[in-house]
Amino acid sequence: MGLEDKWHKNETIYSMDVETFYDSDGDGVGDFQGLIDRLGYLSRLGVSCIWLLPFYETPNLDNGYDIADYYQVDSRLGTLGDFVEFTHEARARGIRVIIDMVVNHTSDQHPWFQAARRDPDSPYRDYYVWTDEPAQAPDKDTFFPGEEEDVWNYDEVAEAYYYHRFYRFQPDLNLRNPDVREEIRKILGFWLELGVSGFRVDAATLMIDQKGDLPPLEEPHSVLKEMKSFVRSREGDAVLLAEADDAPDELEAYFGEDGNEMDLLLNFVLNAHLTHALAREEASPLVAGLERLPDVSGTGQWANFLRNYDELNVGRLSGGARAEVFETFGPEERMRIYGRGLRRRLAPMLEGDPDRIELAYSLLFALPGTPIIVSGDEIGMGEDLSLPGRNAVRTPLHWSDDPNAGFSNGDPDDLVRGIIDEGPFSYEHVNVAAQRAEQNSLLDRMSRLIGTRKECPSLGWGAHTVLATDSDSVFANRYDWEENTVVTVHNLAADTATVPLDLGDPDDPLHRLVGAGEHTRRDDGRVAVELGGYEYCWLRVGAEHATRHW
Ligand code: BGC
Repeated sequence: MGLEDKWHKNETIYSMDVETFYDSDGDGVGDFQGLIDRLGYLSRLGVSCIWLLPFYETPNLDNGYDIADYYQVDSRLGTLGDFVEFTHEARARGIRVIIDMVVNHTSDQHPWFQAARRDPDSPYRDYYVWTDEPAQAPDKDTFFPGEEEDVWNYDEVAEAYYYHRFYRFQPDLNLRNPDVREEIRKILGFWLELGVSGFRVDAATLMIDQKGDLPPLEEPHSVLKEMKSFVRSREGDAVLLAEADDAPDELEAYFGEDGNEMDLLLNFVLNAHLTHALAREEASPLVAGLERLPDVSGTGQWANFLRNYDELNVGRLSGGARAEVFETFGPEERMRIYGRGLRRRLAPMLEGDPDRIELAYSLLFALPGTPIIVSGDEIGMGEDLSLPGRNAVRTPLHWSDDPNAGFSNGDPDDLVRGIIDEGPFSYEHVNVAAQRAEQNSLLDRMSRLIGTRKECPSLGWGAHTVLATDSDSVFANRYDWEENTVVTVHNLAADTATVPLDLGDPDDPLHRLVGAGEHTRRDDGRVAVELGGYEYCWLRVGAEHATRHW
């Protein structure tokens, strides 16, 4: 390991969409000025890195993942000036910003595509992937079954078919073309100058996949390595967080060699197994998930999450496990999507029980990697299943019980998406203002967990071991790093459980860092940890020592 600043190993990332966070000008759409106004909230929550979903100029047919101009901010959200104010203000509060970078495809409204379809001799024609006649049965499926049928679409103007793994309005870019790769470098360089600390690389797996009838890339990972070396040459501590929903045995390759590729990988494998463990209220699916992952200590870092703004994808679980998750967390057909996922928020999946939500987040924070929170989960927001597709989990943040949940003072008919105003997750019951005022609210507990995670760099840096317990419902693990040891114990079920743990030297003092339960030394030197239903605790074993971050 070199003398690099690996800040990303010890941060809590908050993922959010500007348009649903806070509307400062009453037009019904969240904006950068609103985000600047509410940075204090994020600072108090304790998050130290924001991941912004796409905010670029867009026809907005896929929540901004259809980009029409990489160098402009969507005018509904503000201006480039507002963006720079935002990165400046965030930095002043010690909060870094990473932004979504969607370069697997563009919008079909992007000037490159418009030029490409109009003129076969345009230099932009080869920015995309074309065929005169698609194969009868393409070997790649659309990513959105039920919403799209095919990966080829006929364009009347071009008189040819173009390739798109996502929606038909998102033509795939041809990453074999060196000019496209040069364009990507320019875009990355531009945003680095405006103060970002890195990028969430959208659809990294599909970027390097074989596209249409094009020959495969000779060295697929070179595309991602090029991005990394460029980004690092411009900004020494900038990071790349990849969306690589690939088979477990393909994942290690995304980290490259000696840190020359991705720094962080969204951990879809663990997300599915963690969900299964929460559904069964048993530790074994989580242990199995950890065992499926390659050992990346020394090269990279996992980015762990419970929910995001997409479907909760359990497609990588076995058939039986998937059925169990669907039965417990998605009993109604309308809660499911694409045959592989749930369009639900975490809180309603856990019946709105703050103890279970806190347990789930503590567990997430205790897993090896960098934790990510999706905006709204910190107060336990619900979903709106009357909205189409993934929009069910993309409703505006509830700030208070004022009209429009305090998100906007505009006309309710103008809101970017409706406020949840019915049932136990209505804004009148679940909102920031109420939870700020209440001791031990979910917001309060989340903030405590974020602070504790920050206090324990061993979790980002240390050697991780799963500890054997004799209880099906208890997951226990430990981290050792530079003479510091932290042990976490989580009871996933409703019944009290006591587990004896072998924590080494019986003379080591034990301190509880966060959580509940009792711990007592037994005569045999082992420590008995007793946890009530859905309780957890983090223990420091031995004294705390100063640590170096490289
Ligand atoms: C994003 C999705 C989006 C897709 C296409 C995904 O990985 O998370 O929301 O639809 O990329 O850009």
